[in-house]
Formats: sequence, C-alpha cells, structure tokens
Amino acid sequence: LFSAVEMAPRDPILGLNEAFNADTRTTKVNLGVGVYYNEEGRIPLLRAVAEAEKARIEAHAPRGYLPIEGIAAYDKAVQELLFGKGAALIEAGRVITTQALGGTGALKIGADFLKRLLPDATVAISDPSWENHRALFESAGFPVQNYRYYDPFSNGVNRGGMLEDLRNLPARSIVVLHACCHNPTGVDLQLEDWKAVLEVLREREHVPFLDIAYQGFGDGIDQDAEAVRLFAESGLEFFVSSSFSKSFSLYGERVGALSLVTSSREESTRVLSQLKRVIRTNYSNPPTHGATVVASVLNSPELRAMWEAELGEMRERIRSMRLAMVEQLAALGAKRDFGFVAEQRGMFSYSGLTVEQVERLKEEFGIYAVGTGRICVAALNNGNLDSVTRAIHAVL
Ligand code: LMR
Repeated sequence: LFSAVEMAPRDPILGLNEAFNADTRTTKVNLGVGVYYNEEGRIPLLRAVAEAEKARIEAHAPRGYLPIEGIAAYDKAVQELLFGKGAALIEAGRVITTQALGGTGALKIGADFLKRLLPDATVAISDPSWENHRALFESAGFPVQNYRYYDPFSNGVNRGGMLEDLRNLPARSIVVLHACCHNPTGVDLQLEDWKAVLEVLREREHVPFLDIAYQGFGDGIDQDAEAVRLFAESGLEFFVSSSFSKSFSLYGERVGALSLVTSSREESTRVLSQLKRVIRTNYSNPPTHGATVVASVLNSPELRAMWEAELGEMRERIRSMRLAMVEQLAALGAKRDFGFVAEQRGMFSYSGLTVEQVERLKEEFGIYAVGTGRICVAALNNGNLDSVTRAIHAVL
C-alpha cells in the first residue's frame, strides 16, 4: 500500500519550524513563520485572553458538541469586527458566518463550497501570495493562476498589471485578495486601488474571496477592514476568511471564521444549510475553547478594551522594529536602501533577499527566513536585531 509513496517536500513555512527546532545553536532566530514574539522573544498570552480563560475554567463549563456553524455569539462578533457594528448588510441578514479551524480552515471550507458552486472556475491569487493559497485551491480541484501584484522595482503594487490580469481572467473566476497586511510582501492596495479592483471584478463577474488574517496589525482594527467594508457596500456577493491566530495570539487554538455575503436573508438561509454540509463531512463541528475565549473578550467592553490596547502594543512594537531594522542596516553601510521595510504593513517584509542569501542566513547564522525572502519582522526584538541585521548585511 505505502511502498510507492514518495517523500513530500517540507512545507515552505511550517517546515522551517521543524528545521529551526532541530537547530542546536543558541543564537538561532526564527523569522520564518508568521508569529508575533514579544520583546522577550516569547509568544505572548494576552492578558485579555488569560482573564477570559480564567472565567471559563472557573465556570467548569460542559464540553458538548457545538452547532456545525459554531458559537452564535462568536460568529456575530466576527461579523461586527469585519463589517462594523450595525452594518447594513448584517441587519439585512446578508451575511452568514461559520466558525472555522483558523484562517486556513476557512479558506478550505470556502474552496470546497465554491467547487460545488463553480466547478469549472479558475482561481487567481496574487504574485506572490501566501504559499498555502495555491495548494489549498488546487487541492479543492481548481486550476490556480497568478495576477501581477508586487513590483520589485518600486517595492509597491503593480497596479496596471494587476487590473489588466484581472480583466483577462475568464469571466466568473474566483479572485483571492489579501484585505490588509499582504502576505508575504507587506504591501497593500490603497482605497482608490480597491475601488478600481472592485469595478473590474464587477464587470467580469468574478467572485471575490477576501482573506484577512492580520486585522489590527496594519493601521488599526477598523482601518484594516476598509477593503472588506468597501466590498460590503458594493452589493456584490463575496467570501471572507478571517483569523484570530495572530490578533489574539491563539495560533494553536485554530480560531478563524468564514463569512459569506449573499444577496438576501432568504438566500443566506439556503446557503448556510449547504455550507453546514461541507463542514459536517469535513470535521463535523468546531472546537469550543478558542472561540469561547474570543467571543467572551469581544463581547465584554472591559476585556475588549484590554485586547485592543494589547493589539495596539503589538502593532507599535512591530513598527518600531521595522524602523530600527532600516536604521541599523543603513548604519552598517548596506548599499541597498531598505527604507521600504518601514512602509510595509503587518508582520512581514519582503526583503528582496535571494534564495541563496536566505540559505546562507540559515547555514552560517542560524537565522531562518522563507525562501522567497519573506522575513517576519514581528520576531525581531532589541536582543536579536543587531545579530540579524549584521547577518543580513553579511549575506547581501
Ligand atoms: C504564515 O504565513 O507564516 C502564517 O500564516 C502561518 C501559516 O500557516 O503559514
């Protein structure tokens, strides 16, 4: 049965964790996976999360099965975070949300559901995109192609190329868009760009699939939802996958959600009934802990304020690390101007390092980054910044 099974390559992102964990050097630094580490180099347990967990443990709550679509209070809180409290489309019953196993789980249920709705569609993802986007949609049975996105010359967005490629896709394609904090480049569209993209999607009847895994890490919770809200006002039907892995520092709890915007309350009822079948035949129903904690925090004014402050601290610390990295590289005499790193949003910087340079960082310095040159700025701190920038300067 298994004799012909070939060895699969390591996952380009999570595989780095395996290699990093096996590295015995005490000076090693993991800039691979998108995880926020605090100034002490640890993944924080947020105070708001600890408070909500304490209350939950003290309540000795039973652990029955959740509804297939998850905890109602959680799903509602997700909608309000994405679309804004009291948003017209929530009031009109045009949004359905199901709890999902992280952002990846949301993408997977969405992809499987789309395969039933549009079996012959093409999926388009940005060039470059998060490594798992292609794999997820291909494994759901779709052909996946790229649209132009990043312009390495300006370290910005190739706006013209992007719009042209979206226009040239077969009509009714599925277009995956990073709503904020683009992974891996950290380069986002501006509101005017989003409007132009939206018009092309409308013209070509493409199906937007917005992926928002870093809400709050760009400019703020509401600011980062700008694109989602623009789409919400457009009258289009679309998909949104979202995640609390990063914003609640709950990576291992797999807390995400899939939201679908339909055209009416009546349609929502039918769509949800089908989406539940996709979930039931996948993992039956979601786990309780993480979503209970997130719902408690988002629905308590006190804990919510605490969480927003903690999220703000994470965002600001990343920003200060970006600035410090740019300054240090300049002080070391780097020939390349790294000023663009300070302009990028979210956890990542698309550093421009080549595969060979990334390999040298790992081999010679124990510094792990993704092969594409993506580095996780959220893993920098004042203790490792010097060694990281010196190593980058050495391999340049
Ligand atoms: C990342 O891009 O590093 C994160 O989203 C983690 C993952 O699942 O790849």
